[in-house]
Amino acid sequence: MKRACVIGWPVEHSRSPLIHRYWLKQYGIDGAYEKEAVRPEDLAEFLGSLKERGYAGANVTLPHKEAALQLAALADEAARAIGAANTLWLDDSGRLNASNTDAYGFITNLSAAASGWNEGGRPVMVLGAGGAARAIVHGLLAEGARRILLANRTSGRARALAAAFGPAVAVVDWQERARALTGCGLLVNATSLGMTGKDALDLDLAAFAPHAVVADIVYSPLETELLAAARARGNRTVDGLGMLLHQAVPGFERWFGVRPEVTPGLRDHIAASLGEG
Ligand SMILES: NC(=O)c1ccc[n+]([C@@H]2O[C@H](COP(=O)([O-])OP(=O)(O)OC[C@H]3O[C@@H](n4cnc5c(N)ncnc54)[C@H](OP(=O)(O)O)[C@@H]3O)[C@@H](O)[C@H]2O)c1
Repeated sequence: MKRACVIGWPVEHSRSPLIHRYWLKQYGIDGAYEKEAVRPEDLAEFLGSLKERGYAGANVTLPHKEAALQLAALADEAARAIGAANTLWLDDSGRLNASNTDAYGFITNLSAAASGWNEGGRPVMVLGAGGAARAIVHGLLAEGARRILLANRTSGRARALAAAFGPAVAVVDWQERARALTGCGLLVNATSLGMTGKDALDLDLAAFAPHAVVADIVYSPLETELLAAARARGNRTVDGLGMLLHQAVPGFERWFGVRPEVTPGLRDHIAASLGEG
């Protein structure tokens, strides 16, 4: 039996088991996907004994994403560019490999839900400069975005992220974020604002073109205030659940040998777990 797990501290909130167990059942695979609560000081020992613990690989969630990359023997280009890993597997020689599938998940979902989002090469506004924003900036640039405007409450974090990706990424003052939407073809919320229990994003969309696209990576609630406001004025919208589902695809294929599909059935299953079914 093949086994994989998600490693976090805490790990209880992770939706990954629901996604992977759904696919295991769907494809009739004799496999298991577990939750592993691992303290930061125990991560090296845990990853060093992954095989002995019976695992083919793992997902990694907070706070272990950066440390997991450091501990891996090999890392792909996405993990290196993003500076963090969320997917690990043991290769035939028993070496620990690392990838980051957040950029893949974001772009695959964006392209499926809002095809042509990059037509015309208009600037993209990204709000946030945390781990998710970093993955999204990497994904957008790899996909051909010509110019990214980055706004973050803590401007030093935005400057550091922009510096890591070069001149295509320009920092916009957090107070100027609404005005800077003029001429943008895509807006991405990669902050935690708008999430259940967090402050509202509170962004005036008046300067944003009505034919442009709004993506929110927050998935609880599924329809954030930002997405509701964008939809009401005619913008195409992309929610955060699709990214969560698509980022899980490469890991499942590595561990269990089948490339799984993101279907409406899976989406409904996970949405129901968010209380939105
Ligand atoms: N859909 C998916 O698959 C997916 C994947 C990954 C993450 N996410 C979601 O994306 C969000 C960000 O994740 P992350 O890992 O990047 O987190 P993170 O590294 O902690 O970054 C949080 C971001 O939110 C900003 N922020 C937090 N509170 C704020 C406030 N009151 N006012 C203004 N900005 C605020 C932070 O700004 P400062 O730098 O100023 O603190 C930072 O840019 C989370 O809600 C997470 O659940 C979704």
